Parts: sequence; C-alpha cells; structure tokens
Amino acid sequence: MNSIIVTGCCGFIGSTMVDRLLLLGYRVIGVDNVSTGQIGFLDSAIKNSNFQFIQLDLLNLEQLKEAFCGGEFVIHFAANADVRFGTQHPGRDLEQNTNATFHVLEAMRANNIKRIAFSSTGSVYGEASVIPTPEDAGFPVQTSLYGASKAACEGLITAYCEGFGIQSWIFRFVSILGERYTHGHVFDFYQKLKADPTQLEVLGNGRQRKSYLYVQDCIDAIFLAIEKARDRVNIFNLGVNDFCEVNDSIGWICDFLNVTPRLSYTGGERGWVGDSPFIYLDTQRIQSLGWTPKLTIKEGVLRTVQYLRDNEWVFNVRT
Ligand SMILES: NC(=O)c1ccc[n+]([C@@H]2O[C@H](COP(=O)([O-])OP(=O)(O)OC[C@H]3O[C@@H](n4cnc5c(N)ncnc54)[C@H](O)[C@@H]3O)[C@@H](O)[C@H]2O)c1
Repeated sequence: MNSIIVTGCCGFIGSTMVDRLLLLGYRVIGVDNVSTGQIGFLDSAIKNSNFQFIQLDLLNLEQLKEAFCGGEFVIHFAANADVRFGTQHPGRDLEQNTNATFHVLEAMRANNIKRIAFSSTGSVYGEASVIPTPEDAGFPVQTSLYGASKAACEGLITAYCEGFGIQSWIFRFVSILGERYTHGHVFDFYQKLKADPTQLEVLGNGRQRKSYLYVQDCIDAIFLAIEKARDRVNIFNLGVNDFCEVNDSIGWICDFLNVTPRLSYTGGERGWVGDSPFIYLDTQRIQSLGWTPKLTIKEGVLRTVQYLRDNEWVFNVRT
C-alpha cells in the first residue's frame, strides 16, 4: 500500500488529519518544518508503525522530492496560516504558501502522484458582495496577502490539473476551531484573560460577523468530498450554516471561564488589515453530498476554550 502524504502534519488541522488517517488504517508520511506546529501533536502518531515523520521545509525542493517517494495522495496543509500579520512580513505568505505549494506540485510531478487535497480559505473571497458566498462567486479585490497567496495556490493547483493530469480537491475553510487550536481569536482572548481577567482588549468593534467550523467536522467533510466528488478540479466551501458576532464568542468564553472583564475596543469594522467584517460561506455543495456539521459555532468555541484550559502548554510553545 502506498502512503498518504500530509504536509503541515504538526499543525492544528494537519495533526488531526494524521490521527484520523492512522485510525482508518492508512500509511502516512507527515512532512513539517515545525515552524508553527507542535511535535507534541504527533505523540500518538509516532507510536504507530504506519506513520513516518520527515522534518523538512517545503522550500527545499530536492529533499521534498525524495520525501514524496512512495506517496499516492497529498493532503497539503502546510502554510503560514495567520492572516493577521501579513503586512508585517510581506514575503512570508508568498514563500510559505504560494512557493511552497509550487514545490509540492513539483514534488508530486517528480513522483507521478496524481491527487492532491488543498486547504484554501474563505479569505480568497476578500470582502464578498454575495453572502452567503458560493464557490462560484466572482473573485474580488484581495484584502490580505494571505488570501492573495492562497488564491495563487489555487491557480497553480488547477493549472497543474490541466497541464499534468492531476486531480484536486480544494477546500475553502472558514476559521476552524477545536482541540489543538493554537491561533485565532479564542487563543488570543484566552491568553489575554489569563494574563488579566479584569479587562479584555478587542480588535475592531466586536461586531465582526464570522462563521466557525469544528475541526473534526472539517475532517469529515474532506473525506466525504474526496470519496464522492470525482471531477478533475473539485472546489468546496467548508463552514457551518450560521455565523456569530465576535462579541457573542467573547460572552461564551467569559461565561465558561467565569470572568467578567471590562471590554475595550480598538474600533472600526475591521480588527486588522484583511479582517473581513462578515464571513459566511454557502456550503450547499458539500451538504448535497450528505455532510452536516455535528457541532454548532458555540459548541466549537466551548470545546476550544476547554482544550486550551486543559492544555496550557500550547501557550509556551506558540506565542
Ligand atoms: N485554522 C484555520 O482557521 C484555517 C482556516 C482556513 C484555512 N486554513 C488553512 O489550513 C491549513 C492548516 O492550518 P492550521 O490552522 O493547522 O495551521 P498551523 O499553523 O497549525 O499548521 C501549519 C503547519 O505547517 C507547517 N509549516 C509551515 N510552513 C512550512 C514549510 N515551509 N515547510 C514545512 N512545514 C511548514 C507548520 O510548522 C505547521 O505545523 C493552512 O494551510 C491554513 O492556511 C486554516
């Protein structure tokens, strides 16, 4: 049996995918440079003889070609996954996302691997004019370097599908929540409240409307889409049929932690460059295959804050 290759295997979503694949009996090669991921997330995987971990930067093309030897399917999660700091490091998204994806495609080509699943993002829709936003919405002006880099990745992948007979599944996620979550608003709020439970600074006006998806629901959807969608290029939004305000989420987190901080807002509709005031994706396409998320947004937020409370070690390694 050939292996499934998971890039970004030490990350929040990638490590969850690795565990699921191993549970299902697949052989898995995980590739990661451990820049934002945690080796600790592979504690269970490394005990499994079907798992091989290769610590490697995707930017090293020659070694990547060797690492992909024996693979039959690539699930490509490795990336700079943070939208927020794009303008502080203008080259980072281009390198870690677009150039790295080019290398993944070249390493696939060198090893005659014909199938790839890719973690894109709802950020490619920028500030969408159609909400809920369907997969065939027009691509707008890009509002973040992250979104722009992921749109470029999608372009490369689809061009490789046409040019080299590759088949792809491209998933545009809303923000993902759940166990092993190590970046995003729940992480930031938890960290701030731990330092000082009496006050909480909120980026923007707190009225930003967002959709969130629980990580295990995300993994379920990826498996189902790969099993059932058979076009050369298969594009799916992944999210829940709902949204909440950042203020709602703050309320759930504070109730859970039993704190009542004084809230202060930096103001404006956007918390940072590239923050979209309203993200809500149309998920009819994936739902038509028979998928529905099991957790609501509130349940996903609560699972996440509970995980952070029980695993505060993650704050020591990613700040
Ligand atoms: N978490 C979300 O809410 C969310 C939303 C939309 C899309 N995505 C996408 O899903 C994917 C996974 O996100 P995540 O939240 O698990 O992020 P993460 O930061 O936890 O995981 C990314 C992993 O990739 C690794 N990595 C980064 N650059 C690398 C490189 N050059 N070579 C090798 N490894 C490298 C990191 O060490 C890390 O383990 C990303 O592509 C991200 O853009 C995530």
